[in-house]
Amino acid sequence: MDRILIAGNWKMNKDAKGTIDFAKKIKKYSFNEGDEVCLIPPFTDLKILKDELDGTNIKIGAQNCHFEDNGAYTGEISSEMLKEIGVEFCIVGHSERREYFGETDKSCNKKIIKLLEKGITPILCVGEKEDIREAGAEQSLISKQLGEAFIGIKQADVPKVIIAYEPIWAIGTGKTATPEQAQEMSAFIRGFMSGLFSEAIGECMMILYGGSVKPENARDILRQRDINGALVGGASLDPKSLYELVKISADLKK
Ligand code: PGA
Repeated sequence: MDRILIAGNWKMNKDAKGTIDFAKKIKKYSFNEGDEVCLIPPFTDLKILKDELDGTNIKIGAQNCHFEDNGAYTGEISSEMLKEIGVEFCIVGHSERREYFGETDKSCNKKIIKLLEKGITPILCVGEKEDIREAGAEQSLISKQLGEAFIGIKQADVPKVIIAYEPIWAIGTGKTATPEQAQEMSAFIRGFMSGLFSEAIGECMMILYGGSVKPENARDILRQRDINGALVGGASLDPKSLYELVKISADLKK
């Protein structure tokens, strides 16, 4: 794989002090120019992290955004605001947002359109619950999630979207999908995108796997043909394990 992205989703963890502490520790490690790393802290830590990581090749991303630029949307943050502070990535449709905050495929679509307009890379999360997998319906669910999320997106913009396959039963549970399961679904997603747009587009999509990724299991997952990186929750909170994940990626790219 010539590109491997490690994206660390901090979820609702770390205050300002914890963020500064993390940044100081991660800066002690040496990264290569080709390492692709992105940290996705809570909104309140974005500017702090951006400033602390100035001069490194670690990028920052947001966990969510609103699809309008501004307006009467109490409690929301727009992609325009994120852009202003140098955010380069934004998660869209994380399963926790779908489950607890009513995120739908339709709102994901609107957010992707807006983020692309602003030049921020959307990281679209798709994935199935355990009962769906047990019923053998995971591919049809993911087809629906992808089909609706990409409505009206211009062909030229499609490869700018990163897709993260995150089986919900593997998130925060310590229960990782096997490398074979992760590869099978990533290949399915690539094939689906080829069918929806073109083979060339399908081939160049960045597809991440997420769900209990840690240094101990990352190598086998990241070496799969159709996997271009990982969306990492728990293990990204610790600078050492984040760094180890980046080193594993660098090794696999050699
Ligand atoms: P986890 O979270 O690595 O803690 O399972 C992944 C995610 O939700 O993005």
